[in-house]
Amino acid sequence: MHLPSVASLLLTALPLTFASPTPGKGQSKGLDYYAKKAGLKYFGAATDSPGFRERAPYVEQYPKYDQIMWKSGEFGQTTPTNGQKWLFTEPEQGVFNYTEGNIVTSKARKHGMYLRCHALVWHSQLAPWVEAKQDWTKDEMRKIIVSHVTRVATAWKGQCYAWDVVNEALNEDGTYRESIFYKVLGEEYLTLSFKTAAKVDPKAKLYYNDYNLEWPSAKTEGAQRIVRLLQKNRIKIDGVGLQAHLIAEQPPTLDQHIDAIRGFAKLGVEVALTELDIRLKTPSNPTNLEQQKQAYKNVVGACVQVKGCIGVTIWDFYDPFSWVPHVFEGEGDALLWFEDWSRHPAYDGVVEALTNKTRRW
Ligand code: XIL
Repeated sequence: MHLPSVASLLLTALPLTFASPTPGKGQSKGLDYYAKKAGLKYFGAATDSPGFRERAPYVEQYPKYDQIMWKSGEFGQTTPTNGQKWLFTEPEQGVFNYTEGNIVTSKARKHGMYLRCHALVWHSQLAPWVEAKQDWTKDEMRKIIVSHVTRVATAWKGQCYAWDVVNEALNEDGTYRESIFYKVLGEEYLTLSFKTAAKVDPKAKLYYNDYNLEWPSAKTEGAQRIVRLLQKNRIKIDGVGLQAHLIAEQPPTLDQHIDAIRGFAKLGVEVALTELDIRLKTPSNPTNLEQQKQAYKNVVGACVQVKGCIGVTIWDFYDPFSWVPHVFEGEGDALLWFEDWSRHPAYDGVVEALTNKTRRW
């Protein structure tokens, strides 16, 4: 009789142990289940601590929200939408606070989800003190960055699958944004931020994260330049995050999106869709909801089709908690669950993308 070897037994057991960090009891086949079956690491949703939610008065919806967010098996990953940002983690120079960030990160841990940590060095939602002085010396700015990255990355050391180390460093034409960091240090602020993060939390995947990287452009070339800059200096960079804040009426085509992802994958870094939402003019109607469905299907489909793309995160999942209506006037309904908890047609678009038998290359 042929007995299976120990090695083959182990190999068959391995996927059960490692493939899914979230096989909770009684979970249905949610988006994360299909994503893992399709070869991705996760399908996730960013979430905020309750006090920070865009429409916090929705308290009576919280039980339903929490059920879907943490217990339904829809999501195998999360990102705190706000709590780890500079404004909250170092509001005064040298004064650190991890309270809001911890609310989300501890839930991720409790529910066995991948955690993307966001964001260490960013010009926006920056604590005012960093910009209150415009004439920092180079040395002062180096110390500010090293101290911030060290303390914040240490606070969540070992918990983050990935860190967005630098966020939105580029202008649309691919040149560097004139942030306070760039004004004082030039490109060095990028190398310094990544170098410091690598030293503090060597196991976390270190990402450059930005928007409008979803189709080839001067900006995607700029992001590739950043990857090469770090690689040339032998500084660890593991991934590029495509935020993917998209518009239902003018999304990237499947091919454009595949090209953009491959452009990064070719450099040897992984890619993730980190903040996906696809906004439309409100009130929504059958036509723009169908456009939105196709757009979700294409971007998630592109990620499934390119091996270097490892996961998708939507920027919250419940429309009332989306940032979109607060920033883009007259637009909204960008996520997968409507205010009344019915699902967008786009939910089925995502499932279709995840269950398509497509080639990975
Ligand atoms: C947004 C949050 O969702 C809002 O709650 C906050 O008021 C502003 O920031 N790019 C990013 C995210 O990297 O951190 C932003 O999140 C959206 C754009």
